[in-house]
Amino acid sequence: MDPDFVKRAIDLLALHKMNVLHWHLTEDQGWRIEVDAYPELTSTGAWRTEADGSRHGGFYTKDQIREIVAYAADRNITVIPEIELPGHSRAAIAAYPWLSCTGDSLEVPHDWGVFKDIYCAGEDTTFRFLEAVLLEVLELFPSEYIHIGGDEAPKVRWESCPKCQRRIQAEGLHDAHELQSWFITQIGSFLADHGRKLIGWDEILEGGLPDGATVQSWRGMQGGRDAVAMGRDAIMSPTSHCYFDYPVESIDLERVYGFEPEPEGLEGSGRILGGECNMWSERAPQELVDSKVFPRIVAMSEVLWSSKSQRDWNSFKERMDWHYSRLDAWNVDYGWEAVPIDLSCEAAAQTERIMVGLDRAIAGIGGDVFWETKGSQERISRAFDAPFEVTGEGALVVELRRHDVAVGKPWRFPLAGHAGAFQPVELDHALNTYYPGGGQQGLADGRLGSMDFRDGCWQATQGEDMGMTLSLSEELHVDSLSMQFYLYQDAWIFVPDSVRFQWSLDGEHWKGDWSIQTQWNGADAFAQNETQGVVRIAVPVNSRAKYIRFEALNPGPCPLWHDAASLASWLFLDELVVHAN
Ligand code: ACM
Ligand code: ZN
Repeated sequence: MDPDFVKRAIDLLALHKMNVLHWHLTEDQGWRIEVDAYPELTSTGAWRTEADGSRHGGFYTKDQIREIVAYAADRNITVIPEIELPGHSRAAIAAYPWLSCTGDSLEVPHDWGVFKDIYCAGEDTTFRFLEAVLLEVLELFPSEYIHIGGDEAPKVRWESCPKCQRRIQAEGLHDAHELQSWFITQIGSFLADHGRKLIGWDEILEGGLPDGATVQSWRGMQGGRDAVAMGRDAIMSPTSHCYFDYPVESIDLERVYGFEPEPEGLEGSGRILGGECNMWSERAPQELVDSKVFPRIVAMSEVLWSSKSQRDWNSFKERMDWHYSRLDAWNVDYGWEAVPIDLSCEAAAQTERIMVGLDRAIAGIGGDVFWETKGSQERISRAFDAPFEVTGEGALVVELRRHDVAVGKPWRFPLAGHAGAFQPVELDHALNTYYPGGGQQGLADGRLGSMDFRDGCWQATQGEDMGMTLSLSEELHVDSLSMQFYLYQDAWIFVPDSVRFQWSLDGEHWKGDWSIQTQWNGADAFAQNETQGVVRIAVPVNSRAKYIRFEALNPGPCPLWHDAASLASWLFLDELVVHAN
């Protein structure tokens, strides 16, 4: 992000009464702050080679940072820098390989996720390095608090590093989690000696919360609760409401407005310092940031500056009209406040078809609607006025206009009219809070998961098997069955180890076997590649059936080559498509 873009962001924050900018300055994929003592942090660590061979990077000079901090102070905004440790440190390790346990030469990575090479906790030189970096950071940032990250630090390297193991023994620690706590404590005392306080992501609770640390709760609200129970302070930014890099399908304006930063029972404890909205930018270059932050930050601001009893969604929604005029005047390229179309699907009278309804979720919306199947596109007129039927598989493509002006890219909704849609479902697995994927009926609701695993259609579990039974309304001749999976190794999402499709006339005697056919580009579930996408598995049936079963086995923990090795992998699926005649 250009320095001018950062200043503009600060203006917009101030206009929305935000008073802290938490500036995430170091990551695996780039070190973004100049440090005199360690020039390679920026000459090497600020640059990466992308998969296509191009170079990407940059960093802020000390002068630019001083200017930005002063600019923010003039607008009553404190800038809190984040210097990530011990994880998310691959860029620093690329610059100075002696910072890691293995000392291996590693590149600044261009893919996203969690990496297992982190700062070595056994070498004193790691701490001398971090202290030198932090001294320069303290000089630039007068804030009372310094954020030291602490999230997503795999312990595999520490577990096999003789230096880290020696440290565990010498300090009388029990395991690598306590070693992380010891690590953070060293940094916390260093900061305290310089009159500053430490903030860390909620993982800093693991192995014991260091004295004086403030917890930023991001994996839900529990981290904040635990911190307050220990008499410490917390900042709330759970992924469920506060992650503005997530699509509007999973966090819309109303959801943000429903955020309650003080969990029940902790109201008035004085320990919840505030809330934060997170705008991670790995998938949002500068040009896209406005569309993710706005209008959602408007709701967040009202939530953070009002008491629960004062909040009223309907009143806020009316006042949003004024906000849009203000945002227009400031040339903010805001995004949607919700998915602009309410799509509803229901059973049609005939199998292989579903009934689709389109409603305007936002005033003034209209547009052209197309039903797109392989090789053809058919326009659906009056789509916004009356429900219509679709047959077979395709995508509903909606080219939107707002007040008759075309807006944004077309919205695509993959759909499948099939014989299993809206038939009663029994699930073997429990719905996951974060990925309920349409709920109880979600795996047979005519809506297919898209290329975005957070689209609300995908149903997922972590470390568990998934399964379901579908009862057709009548005995049918079933031609084939299929299921889609999402594969995205950077997000720990793998295809299943094996799957079983079964069919039966009476619900007791079943046909169909386990098959190990979860191949992706000809390789097995754990083949190492960087592919992201949707995988489909289909079986021919050609038999009469009334009951259908599907099961998928979780492939187990992330494999050894993976940076989340030994941590539970995710399974994502949607939907069980039944083709019958
Ligand atoms: C985080 O989102 N990893 C704090
Ligand atoms: Zn080590």
